[in-house]
Amino acid sequence: MPQLLEGKTGLVVGVANKRSIAWAIARKLDEAGARLVLTYQNERTESEVRKLAATLRDCAAVLPLDVQDDAQITAATGQAAEALGGGFDVLVHAVAYARPEDLGGRFIDTARDGFHLALDVSAYSLAALAREAEPHMRARGGGSVMALSYIAADRAVPGYNVMGVAKSALESIVRYLSWDLGDGGIRVNAISAGPVRTLAARGIPGFGTMADRAAERTPLRREITQDEVADTALFLASPLSASITGETIFVDAGFHAIGL
Ligand SMILES: NC(=O)c1ccc[n+]([C@@H]2O[C@H](COP(=O)([O-])OP(=O)(O)OC[C@H]3O[C@@H](n4cnc5c(N)ncnc54)[C@H](O)[C@@H]3O)[C@@H](O)[C@H]2O)c1
Repeated sequence: MPQLLEGKTGLVVGVANKRSIAWAIARKLDEAGARLVLTYQNERTESEVRKLAATLRDCAAVLPLDVQDDAQITAATGQAAEALGGGFDVLVHAVAYARPEDLGGRFIDTARDGFHLALDVSAYSLAALAREAEPHMRARGGGSVMALSYIAADRAVPGYNVMGVAKSALESIVRYLSWDLGDGGIRVNAISAGPVRTLAARGIPGFGTMADRAAERTPLRREITQDEVADTALFLASPLSASITGETIFVDAGFHAIGL
């Protein structure tokens, strides 16, 4: 039987280390037959990302990409398309950042520059990346864009603060992009993941307690894994989700459905 992503290509943004959700997604897409390009944020993560990329079946390139830099976005999407032989079918956005002082404490105290930074890196970057990726995805006759969100987009999660506001914007951007890109056969969706113990998660004060509490209150009574998020990413990247766009899919062991 042919593999689900045989002949497909993808650009994965957001790998920092082996715990990154983006890394679980990259491995899953690679196993399913896709040829990938990975990016790294800066010199601090470059060697780790290169080391991980070398373990993939078929990684076409590893490129620098700071999503706050428009020139780097244009360069990375263009170089990825070239390395992958003329465009790509899948774009994974798994990027978020807020200043430590804007997480924890009270949301009301968020300063203007911290707000701008968090929204720029964690939300606007999806629109900027999708815009530059668009011609390279249209060249392939369509494809799938996905971003990673969290339930704090819908509910006030104390401590998550400005990142919750960024996730609300991100999910709204997903819906607007689904309209803009739909006529090119490009689908755009978000995965709202339950707590996963990654580098970004460690930056959120009280994350451990939040994860423990969420696990007690999920219908499945357990935490989720990066690998489970990656399974849904594979579904969204594949023709199995052909008519799904503008959607946020919860991969959170059912936490969002419960009022406890
Ligand atoms: N871990 C969780 O509990 C959880 C839950 C729901 C959603 N998410 C989301 O999943 C995504 C991936 O996070 P993760 O948990 O795998 O953590 P992670 O720390 O492994 O990944 C975050 C990534 O963002 C990148 N990044 C930050 N600023 C950047 C910039 N300016 N330019 C380019 N890259 C930049 C980092 O280099 C890193 O690769 C994020 O959007 C996060 O909000 C995480």
